[in-house]
Amino acid sequence: MAGNFIKSLLAVALSLNGASATQVFANRGTMSGWDTYNHEHKGKVQEANNPVFPDITKQGTSLSMTQVYDKNWKGRYHSEAVKYNVYKKGDTGFYGFAFRLQDDWEFTKGLSFNLAQFIADFTSLGCSETYMPSTMVWLEGDQLNARVKHGDVCPQEEQKTTFFRKLATVTPGAWHRVEIQASWRSDDSGYFKIWYDGKKVNETFGIPTTVTDSRPFQFRVFYDQIAVGTEFADAAPDKW
Ligand SMILES: *[C@@H]1O[C@H](CO)[C@@H](O)[C@H](O)[C@H]1NC(C)=O
Repeated sequence: MAGNFIKSLLAVALSLNGASATQVFANRGTMSGWDTYNHEHKGKVQEANNPVFPDITKQGTSLSMTQVYDKNWKGRYHSEAVKYNVYKKGDTGFYGFAFRLQDDWEFTKGLSFNLAQFIADFTSLGCSETYMPSTMVWLEGDQLNARVKHGDVCPQEEQKTTFFRKLATVTPGAWHRVEIQASWRSDDSGYFKIWYDGKKVNETFGIPTTVTDSRPFQFRVFYDQIAVGTEFADAAPDKW
């Protein structure tokens, strides 16, 4: 009898464990639910009814991010939505979003456009660093690229970058999916995996994936079906 009791307790514990996927943040392309927005100069962050990522609910909006080049503007051109505290050193998680470039988007060789970044404010460290992005995902021409950073944030020359270049060729006028799984470590025990349109385009184990400082990072991303969770399906834009 005692033996059976223990077995059934174990079964409950195992099934709980098996069902422990947690989608810690999810946004179907709406203005609500974000911690803040950042849109510089003439930039905008708006809800749009069209186009919308064809998610499981088959409804809703997407987040439209626009920027306007101004030759007299000396500042930067962010249009972004911000979710605080998505990782700190030692965490492991999945991060996903869908993005779409306008139909008539022209790729320019040598020009890069950031799609998503993990960033934290390091002003308190006392070197000249303020907000510093660690991991970023961006386009250079029509190529998808990513990076992770490690080392000490201050002094700045201690920061080291690992690049994941030319991961995929991106097309305008269509929705694309990006998922990242990262084990955020500042020593050689971390890993970084990235998928594009459902295909794993890089997987690197045994690397440092974040800086030595353990303050929480924010996720800044631009578009639709943005999510963070503990399993692939929590973050994959076509799975929820
Ligand atoms: C993944 O990225 C690393 C770092 O840039 C690179 O050394 C490695 O060759 C890439 N792996 C694949 C399968 O492309």
